[in-house]
Amino acid sequence: MSKVTEREREERLAEKLTKGEKVISVDEMSQEYKEHLVHLMTMQADSELAGAYGYVPWIMKSPSIQETLTVSQIVKDEVRHGRVMYRLLEGLGFPVQDYYESHNFNLRVNEEDIGTQRAADDKRVNIFYYPIDTWYDFIMFNFCMDRGAGHQLEDAKDCSYKPWCDVMEGIFKEEAMHMAHGDFWVKKLAGDKATHDEAQEALNRWYPRTMNIFGRQNSPKNKIYRKLGLKKRDNEEVRQTFALEVKQRCQEFGLAVPDWKPVESKMLEEPFIPG
Ligand SMILES: [Fe+2]
Ligand SMILES: [Fe+2]
Repeated sequence: MSKVTEREREERLAEKLTKGEKVISVDEMSQEYKEHLVHLMTMQADSELAGAYGYVPWIMKSPSIQETLTVSQIVKDEVRHGRVMYRLLEGLGFPVQDYYESHNFNLRVNEEDIGTQRAADDKRVNIFYYPIDTWYDFIMFNFCMDRGAGHQLEDAKDCSYKPWCDVMEGIFKEEAMHMAHGDFWVKKLAGDKATHDEAQEALNRWYPRTMNIFGRQNSPKNKIYRKLGLKKRDNEEVRQTFALEVKQRCQEFGLAVPDWKPVESKMLEEPFIPG
């Protein structure tokens, strides 16, 4: 049997994607497809794991035994999401064990604003470099970041790589619970005079950081992802969907949506997938 050339592979893949069919095995991938897929899935896997580590102290510092259990559950969910994603990567030949051993997913940066910098060579979305110092931070992370991740997941749930879609279904449900946990607490803290101002301050910190994760409008990378069926919408569309939902919740809970303007130098070239 003659060997399939890269050109033939690309053509077959393009045909498949045009018909709306999904990729199941590595044999069906072009080099370009595989590289972008591995990159996006690594971003997700690293973000899930770094996210879990950031929550760990709040198992012990939570305000009640009930919350200790809830935070433990959230940590377990995020570790599971990471594990599931690394297993998919393993199936594509990614050296997961070496990668795990050579990175510190617990690394955090103590700065108010790190723009788009990555503090190390893992691929987590850079919001996961900020420490979660207070219960308000933890709650706002659920409220903003889990919500932002949920909007990104919408695209991944029906992307062109079938094994990824399959795991997204379960991940999405768990992320929705994290977000609901955030909503419950934001409503409670914002509705109480004694805690309202601190809730607003935490929102002022986490909202702009979350708005920065979606990537630039019309980014060239986003166009490639869309061509490959790994994304469906422009980064800006996802951001605006997120912003509208936060606005509605804030009106309901009596919080002011902080100002946010796109600062080119602070915009990620690439969008984040989930966390
Ligand atoms: Fe989450
Ligand atoms: Fe997650």
